[in-house]
Amino acid sequence: MDVRTFWLAGRAATGETELTVTNPLDGREVGRHSVPTDAQVEEAVAAAHAVAKEAAALPVHVRAEALAHVSRRIAERAEEIAQLITAENGKPIVWARGEVSRAVATFRFAAEEARRWSGGVQRLDTEPAAAGRLAYVTRVPYGPVLAITPFNFPLNLVAHKVAPAIAVGAPVIVKPAPATPLSSLLLGEILAETDLPEGMFSVLPVENDRASGLVRDPRLPVVSFTGSAPVGYAIADQVPRKHVTLELGGNAAAVVLADADLDWAAQRVALYSNYQAGQSCIAVQRVIVEEPVYDAFVERLLPAVSALVTGDPADEKTQVGPLVSQAAAERVEQWVREAVEAGAKVLAGGTREGATVAPTVLTDVPREAKVACEEVFGPVMILQRAASIDEAYAMVNDSNYGLQAGVFTRSLDAAFRANRELEVGGVIIGDVPSYRADQMPYGGVKDSGIGREGLHSAMEDLTYEKVMVLTGLTL
Ligand code: SIN
Repeated sequence: MDVRTFWLAGRAATGETELTVTNPLDGREVGRHSVPTDAQVEEAVAAAHAVAKEAAALPVHVRAEALAHVSRRIAERAEEIAQLITAENGKPIVWARGEVSRAVATFRFAAEEARRWSGGVQRLDTEPAAAGRLAYVTRVPYGPVLAITPFNFPLNLVAHKVAPAIAVGAPVIVKPAPATPLSSLLLGEILAETDLPEGMFSVLPVENDRASGLVRDPRLPVVSFTGSAPVGYAIADQVPRKHVTLELGGNAAAVVLADADLDWAAQRVALYSNYQAGQSCIAVQRVIVEEPVYDAFVERLLPAVSALVTGDPADEKTQVGPLVSQAAAERVEQWVREAVEAGAKVLAGGTREGATVAPTVLTDVPREAKVACEEVFGPVMILQRAASIDEAYAMVNDSNYGLQAGVFTRSLDAAFRANRELEVGGVIIGDVPSYRADQMPYGGVKDSGIGREGLHSAMEDLTYEKVMVLTGLTL
């Protein structure tokens, strides 16, 4: 099997050692990649630093055309990339194809946003003392971005960091998750086809324990991290003076109010608690159902959960595949066991085979159980009853996390109330919290992070406002 090169300042490079990537389902080798040496990491950082001024001044049509090219090429190679995602991540092929389509859109949105990225003017002669003055306001990149990306969307969550960086003219260094580096290395291959200047991007598949040197490097003033809360906050604590964006975890709630369409709610909750084996920060984990419809909802939910096809992710029919590793699945199994020992009842699942955990539904879960208060990142949901809408919304907020929440209701009043009261970065009405459109603002409050993704929001996040005041004008 060929050894994949990594991308050093836009060029293919090899180091002195290799790492093997394995398939989570059966441990078979998916591929090998070369690992950058410390000297090569230093070269990539120096190149990003050196090109930063040129990158910020790069004409918009160059950035936009590069982004559009990446979008087109991902579309052309879609099936190959989807197969690679499935092989290295274990995500069922149907979901991998969905991720690839989203990455096509993410780069396309970035190309479109780059063309709209113009700055503006502000009249200052609103006060007599500022007569004849006008402010010209633009946004300027802080500088090179260190993008530390997770395993759960090995292409699209890399795209969400690379695309806005290129759009604003910031060099970017990607440090992919060790479990799933191959998709980002393939993305590097496509980026290398563009006319972006040398140093504009690097993809460095280094081990996690080598990331802190990059985090601390003053030539990388922005760190954009997606992953777990403890790791994210440890990064932020290491570099309090850097601009740090954190997309962290959640234990997302879906609220089913008494007026909801129960068939639709049950189908969506069943699917989105288990999609990608629950390995999404916005997978449904807590299901809060208003008392009058609780039994009717559960009657619909359980058959929908047991109808999910679990198995080999390469199979077209599979909806739920393995977790990213057997260790991850064992941890989920342990958390379920602890909840049961504390009094929870298993309505479905609760079993594990290798890296695969059966879709699991729990009820009567104590508030302190990890499956209730921490992020499971596995195919597990807990059911909770709420006596009223007040109680339901209070239960959503009874969490350290606040990424997104879903509310199944037909009432506009309940929807606006959810928007006012729920302590989350996004409220999805009529659907699960797992809904994400790649152009919309995405990010959390509380322990779910700082900053926003979504192309326009991320472009703002990677830049600061700069004002130039013109004096002595006749306006
Ligand atoms: C995440 O797990 O935070 C990303 C979810 C998504 O992009 O759909």
